[in-house]
Amino acid sequence: MRASTDPQAATADRYRQFAEVEARGMSACYEEWARGVADDPVTAALIDRLPGPKRQPNLVFSASRFHGAPVSDYAAFSVWLAAHWADVEATCLTHATQTNEPGRCAVLLPALAAIPGPLALIEVGASAGLCLHPDRYSYRYTAADGTVRMLHPAAGPSPVVLDCATTGPVPIPDRLPDVVWRAGIDLNPLDVNDEADVAWLDALIWPEHADRRASLRAAVEVARAEPVEIVSGDLNEQVEALVARAPTGATVVVFHTAVLAYLDEEATRRFAATMARLPVRWLSNEGQSVVPAVAENLRAVPTASTDFVLARGTEPIAFTQPHGRALHWLA
Ligand SMILES: C[S@@+](CC[C@H](N)C(=O)[O-])C[C@H]1O[C@@H](n2cnc3c(N)ncnc32)[C@H](O)[C@@H]1O
Repeated sequence: MRASTDPQAATADRYRQFAEVEARGMSACYEEWARGVADDPVTAALIDRLPGPKRQPNLVFSASRFHGAPVSDYAAFSVWLAAHWADVEATCLTHATQTNEPGRCAVLLPALAAIPGPLALIEVGASAGLCLHPDRYSYRYTAADGTVRMLHPAAGPSPVVLDCATTGPVPIPDRLPDVVWRAGIDLNPLDVNDEADVAWLDALIWPEHADRRASLRAAVEVARAEPVEIVSGDLNEQVEALVARAPTGATVVVFHTAVLAYLDEEATRRFAATMARLPVRWLSNEGQSVVPAVAENLRAVPTASTDFVLARGTEPIAFTQPHGRALHWLA
């Protein structure tokens, strides 16, 4: 039987690929768990009780962590999962992978700061909106030669300090952009004031990434102090109306990171066409093949196949590490 028609083989393949492509070098724990599931028909059969889209390794592992699965070897995890399957299953059915990574502001910032302000920011696929506060975080950019550039909000250093390694001619600004208005759109907005939502965001962070967990917690405090509206709905349905609400006199920037991969090709093309039609600046930070209009213009080759492409309109301007840890500016 071909893997594509064998549900169990498909789950094994998905977990093996997750181990080799996504988790390797990023999370030793998730790499081991995913390899373990791939080689364990009993646990794969448990996961196969979920609908296909919910068998996603990142979702099953995050739901497990949400319910207290300890960092462990695979043998202990498989025993834990069997004992807690009802809870994990229920969470997989009601939750989605909505990782909100404020670190991505570090790769967006040079592009944002190059746009004449003041800025009105609209993030589509905002999750809890933590990337809507780029002017309220501090940044530490470290170049390949060891040179460090720090940037702080006008009011002084932020409790959120985002580290980013840079290569290429990154146009690091002298100051943070002047943001006068901000709003988001999400199919399922998460609420920074809801402890269960914050606990879910925490569980979505991979086990070894303590620095990302600390940034999340600090960014949640920043966001709680400055509430932002996140409209509930599909980005294609909502974006035009939200753009129309932006204040006159501000440059409207519509941006998204790690979002369009959730759309089918037609919805992605529709969104790109809307961005070309509306009076906005469009910044995207997505996987290399996710935005066809950007991929068509991509000439450079990234160092890592997992790198995202930062684009201004349809023009690729940088490769970025998916969590914002590194930025390679294209000449
Ligand atoms: C992986 S999260 C990224 C969140 C945030 N952009 C970041 O980089 O931290 C993707 C988000 O996109 C949202 N999303 C997916 N498809 C969407 C759609 N069609 N319209 C609006 N939001 C969508 C999901 O609900 C989720 O919160």
